[in-house]
Amino acid sequence: MARTTYIAGNWKMNTNKADALALAKALVERLKGKGGTYMIGVPFVYLDAVGAVVKGSNILLGAQDVAATANGAHTGEVSTAMLKDVGVTSVILGHSERRHEIGESDELINKKVRRALADGLEVVLCIGELLAEREAGEAEQVCAFQLSAGLAGVTEAQLKRVTIAYEPVWAIGTGKTATPADAQAIHRFCRDHIAKLYSRQAADDIIIQYGGSMKPENAKELLAQEDIDGGLIGGASLKADSFAAICEA
Ligand code: 13P
Repeated sequence: MARTTYIAGNWKMNTNKADALALAKALVERLKGKGGTYMIGVPFVYLDAVGAVVKGSNILLGAQDVAATANGAHTGEVSTAMLKDVGVTSVILGHSERRHEIGESDELINKKVRRALADGLEVVLCIGELLAEREAGEAEQVCAFQLSAGLAGVTEAQLKRVTIAYEPVWAIGTGKTATPADAQAIHRFCRDHIAKLYSRQAADDIIIQYGGSMKPENAKELLAQEDIDGGLIGGASLKADSFAAICEA
C-alpha cells in the first residue's frame, strides 16, 4: 500500500510577518518539484500574506485551529469560511498545546473536526499521551480514546481528508523523541484502531504522521518505519534548511 509521505510544519505562535514571508519564500524554492505532500501551519494573522507566497506551489496552506461554529457572534473566533477565503486548505486540530494549555476537550475537538470536514477542509488530527500516561502503560488506551472521540460522526468518505498526527506530549519541544520502534508500535496500533472504527482499507490508506522533536538527524530513521508516513514538525519547521532537510529525508 503506497501512502504518500506528508510533511507538515506547525509554526505555532512564532515568526513575525517579515520572517513568515521569508520562510515561506525559501520553502517554495527548496521544495519545488519534490514529490510528497507538504503543508505549513501558519499563525492566523499571516495566513493571507503567506497564502499569496505559496499559491501555485506544492505547499499547502494550513491553519493551527478553527472555530467549531459558522460565522456569527463568536468574539475572537476564526471560521472555516474565513480560512478558505484566504486560501487555507488544511487545519491542525487537537494539538496537545490546545488540549493542555487551553483546555480543549475531545468533544470540542470533534466538533471542530466535523465542522472543518463538512466545510471542505482537510484535517490533521493530533493525538498523543502525556508522560505520566506513558509511564502508567496507558499510551495505547489514550490514543484509542482520542481517535474514537475525535473522529466520532466522521464518515469513511470524509476520513479520506483526515491525517492523524501521533505526537507523544513528552516529546514535543523537549528534544526527546520516541524511539523509531516505539513510535512504529503506536502508529501500528492507531492504524489497527482505524480499521476497527472504519475498515481495513481506510486504515491502510490513512496517513499517520509522527510529531515530537523530529529533526533532520532523526527523520530518516523515523520515516523508514512501515506505519510512519510523515511528520508534523514544530521547532525544526521554523528554518527553511531544517524543514527542507526533513522533507528530503
Ligand atoms: P517540536 O517539533 O518542536 O517538538 O513540536 C512538535 C509539534 O508539536 C508539532 O505540532
